[in-house]
Amino acid sequence: MSAKKITVVGAGHVGATCSQLLAQKELAREVILVDIAEGIPQGKGLDQWESAPIEGFDTRVIGSNDYEQCAGSDIFIVTAGIARKPGMSRDDLLKTNAGVMSSVCSEIKRVAPKSIVIVVTNPLDVMAQVALETTGFPRERVIGMAGVLDTARYRSFIALELDVSIEDIQALVLGGHGDTMVPLASYTSVSGIPLSQLLAQDRIDALVERTRKGGGEIVAHLKTGSAYYAPAAAAVQMAEAIVKDKRRILPCAAWLQGEYGMSDLYLGVPCLLGANGLEKVIEVELDAEEKAALETSAEHVRSTVAALEALQ
Ligand code: APR
Repeated sequence: MSAKKITVVGAGHVGATCSQLLAQKELAREVILVDIAEGIPQGKGLDQWESAPIEGFDTRVIGSNDYEQCAGSDIFIVTAGIARKPGMSRDDLLKTNAGVMSSVCSEIKRVAPKSIVIVVTNPLDVMAQVALETTGFPRERVIGMAGVLDTARYRSFIALELDVSIEDIQALVLGGHGDTMVPLASYTSVSGIPLSQLLAQDRIDALVERTRKGGGEIVAHLKTGSAYYAPAAAAVQMAEAIVKDKRRILPCAAWLQGEYGMSDLYLGVPCLLGANGLEKVIEVELDAEEKAALETSAEHVRSTVAALEALQ
């Protein structure tokens, strides 16, 4: 099972990595890579298609500057915008990326009104809201990529610490995609064994802290931009759950409508992803400390939305 057409908007580091992964996994008949920069999507798309005979995939990768090429796409992964440099927070990208997101989403609405949009551009939770408002799509079809990446970072650090396979580590990270995210130690297990039985609390706390700052750690190394391999893999995992109707439960940014006692904001929560996009938000029990942390994270998202409104 695969989609007919998936479009990746933004042919930069994250976007181009997404299109290569989508093609290698044959998740669509065609992958369209779109960017405003002339020649970049065409060159990267052709280069990726030329890897098809070696990698053995039949997904056509086509680069374009023209949204007509994306008409009727089943899914859009939106990565267009600017990325962080050292000293910048995700929120520093606010105004520029909000402008990019609304222009991209107007085109999506025009050429593929039935599509599902996966938002990757930061600041994620606010960009997802811009996408929801610009497209006018129902919340089922506008989902943000954050928790899959944050959870992957957390799992990768736990695997290093315990020197065990990443395959056996299950974890859940909730909240906004920023330093206020909420990695839930109580929902973290290794082959069903609660993490608290394998690691001392101070080590768990250190891994949680490293996860919160995981994006910044990569920016500090790269200096010229932000992470892209893991973010792209995370967005593609969400697309795979949708095109294969896998009904996976993945932490994603969803537009809350009463869940967790909150409404009208995007926040990272466990989501059931299937053919219709967001099939359901799963509510899990949280202790008082976790609830307070989620509320702090929500407050940060609300204040970033307010900051954007003040800029406009
Ligand atoms: N329409 C289409 N593409 C655009 C537009 C637009 N209006 N504006 C910018 N772009 C393109 C740029 O031309 C560039 O090729 O978006 C691409 C961004 O690529 P990079 O600068 O390499 O940034 P990247 O590392 O891919 O990050 C993109 O994803 O993870 C987030 O925080 C990250 O917001 C950032 C986004």
